[in-house]
Amino acid sequence: MKRIVCLISGRGSNLAALLETARHERWAQEIPAEIALVLSNRAHAAGLEVASRHGVATAVVEHGAFATRETFEAALIAAIDVRDPQLVVLAGFMRVLTKSFVEHYAGRLVNVHPSLLPAFPGLATHRRALEAGVRVHGATVHFVSPTVDAGRIIAQAAVPVLEGDDEQSLGARVLAQEHLLLPRCVRWIVEDRVSLADERLHVSGIADRERAILAAGGR
Ligand code: GRF
Repeated sequence: MKRIVCLISGRGSNLAALLETARHERWAQEIPAEIALVLSNRAHAAGLEVASRHGVATAVVEHGAFATRETFEAALIAAIDVRDPQLVVLAGFMRVLTKSFVEHYAGRLVNVHPSLLPAFPGLATHRRALEAGVRVHGATVHFVSPTVDAGRIIAQAAVPVLEGDDEQSLGARVLAQEHLLLPRCVRWIVEDRVSLADERLHVSGIADRERAILAAGGR
């Protein structure tokens, strides 16, 4: 059984999508993977309740309790590695991670990001997309590399930017795609259909259109 640890910071809608997909697709029975732990850097993250509702163990490592990023990450690594996970998923985890953390989980750390990377790395992606006037925006799931939001791309989903969109409406359209994309990518990894070796992505038995989703929604 492959163990997955999810890291969150807030509402946990991507986590919920992952847990619901796992339940729906009968992970643990049909595919040998389970979400073993949900870890938050915020004690009041709503996503912790999502995890509990699904019967998944939770833990909190509050970044504010540590004087440095390094000591915070050491505690985080200790909490994660108790589960000896094959995959660590950043599902709305809002802390920048150091090179040594990323290297510790090389090839087993993935992130979901609300833009079509390499466009708009970092924060406020929907606002920046609107300001830039792009007509297509979206979401990316990628392996994490030491440079923020720059690792190998596993899959992307593109959505149209519509006349009259604001951050909220555009963000909701993107989020709906994140919820499809993240569980799908996690499943591919635990099924060994996607992997990262020598900083290269290896993909087998996945149709191109599954990795490049062009979501409808225009008018
Ligand atoms: C998502 O948009 C994710 O891409 C970004 O932060 C947001 C987290 O949302 N990194 P949620 O906690 O999964 O609802």
